[in-house]
Amino acid sequence: MAKHTSGNILGIDIGGSGIKGAPVNVETGELLAERIRIPTPQPSTPQAVAEVVAEIARRFNWTGPIGCTFPAVVQHGVTLSAANVDKAWIGTPAEDLFEQATGCPVTVINDADAAALGEVAFGAGQGRKGLVLMLTFGTGIGSGLVLDGRLIPNSELGHLQLNGKEVEPWASDRTRERDELSWEKWAKRVQKYLEHLEMLFTPDLFILGGGVSKKADKFKSLLNTKAELVIAELQNNAGIAGAALAAHFANKGQTMDKGLDVTPELEAKPKPKPRAKPTSTRKGVAVEAVEPLEPAIVEPVEIVEPPVEPVEVVEPPVEAVEPVEVVVTTPKKPATPRRKTTPVPVAPVVAPEGEDVTPPLEPVVTENTVEEAAVEENTVEENTVEEAAVEENTVEVMEVPTSESSETPLEGVE
Ligand code: BGC
Repeated sequence: MAKHTSGNILGIDIGGSGIKGAPVNVETGELLAERIRIPTPQPSTPQAVAEVVAEIARRFNWTGPIGCTFPAVVQHGVTLSAANVDKAWIGTPAEDLFEQATGCPVTVINDADAAALGEVAFGAGQGRKGLVLMLTFGTGIGSGLVLDGRLIPNSELGHLQLNGKEVEPWASDRTRERDELSWEKWAKRVQKYLEHLEMLFTPDLFILGGGVSKKADKFKSLLNTKAELVIAELQNNAGIAGAALAAHFANKGQTMDKGLDVTPELEAKPKPKPRAKPTSTRKGVAVEAVEPLEPAIVEPVEIVEPPVEPVEVVEPPVEAVEPVEVVVTTPKKPATPRRKTTPVPVAPVVAPEGEDVTPPLEPVVTENTVEEAAVEENTVEENTVEEAAVEENTVEVMEVPTSESSETPLEGVE
């Protein structure tokens, strides 16, 4: 049974095709148990996604803080855009929703922001000062800007325009796969994008992450930037680790609108060991070796919680390999009082071009837009990219029927 100890936070990464979670030691960034992955329900409505988030918390018997990524603009716990997810997310109070579903305090952060935090704290950008610009290439293009260890949230640079064209649908990894672009052709597009970003931001370091970062040997040598360019190290776990870190900061009173500051307590941190390759299989599912944790040599700086207790490694929930029915509709325990007590005004939506900029206050099922149709059209390619990534790293795969739809089209394609 997973035990919540101080210093451990459940990180959950919500993506277009999978929702992944594991408890994280926020001192080291290491996952304390094998990840659980549940396919993202289709349609990915707020209620359906919240049920999956609750199921992951339940699987770990989790009662402590949760950090959760979401692939959209997130301000004051409210999701304000929906480029690659159900449009009902625009204006949804995601933190409240997940807190009600799980009964735990939840912090929600943009997925690329979480990945950037994770990499700066524990990965390829560890200890880096100056301006770090993280880009994630997957279904969409995400960006995370970190200045001297402080996150500048919601930069959304995948929606920049280049020669009158939005970059995301032109240079994402999904587009590379869908249009069967050669690595050279795709890298040429990315190169143009990087040059544009250098012109605008003059970063000190680029970190390239997302699903495509696993294939860095195919394209890294084709990219040439003035700033140093490195490949993300945490790969599939950056979002989980970064989300947990964001929740950790939130618990310490830092707020996203002021930027999260990873510097004070993360300096002089040992580099995490490279993740283990899958070492065995069980019922055809890759099982990743759980490494013993390195001793934390981080100084106990102004942490209000007691020092980290010896970590209890969670036994893999063996039954998780069976299909699971999600029936979690009510919290296991009363919702934790909100940290924010004043109602938060929903800020104007800065929506990607072509999207409705009026956020509906209630989650509504909107009609398919051209963009959604495009997303549907690309479903197979998206799946191909993400599923490939999942195969390498994921331990548990479960199917979760949703109330909205019994179909799980993304699961059909391996
Ligand atoms: C969204 C971003 C997200 C990125 C990667 C974009 O379409 O607008 O919020 O970070 O995709 O998922």
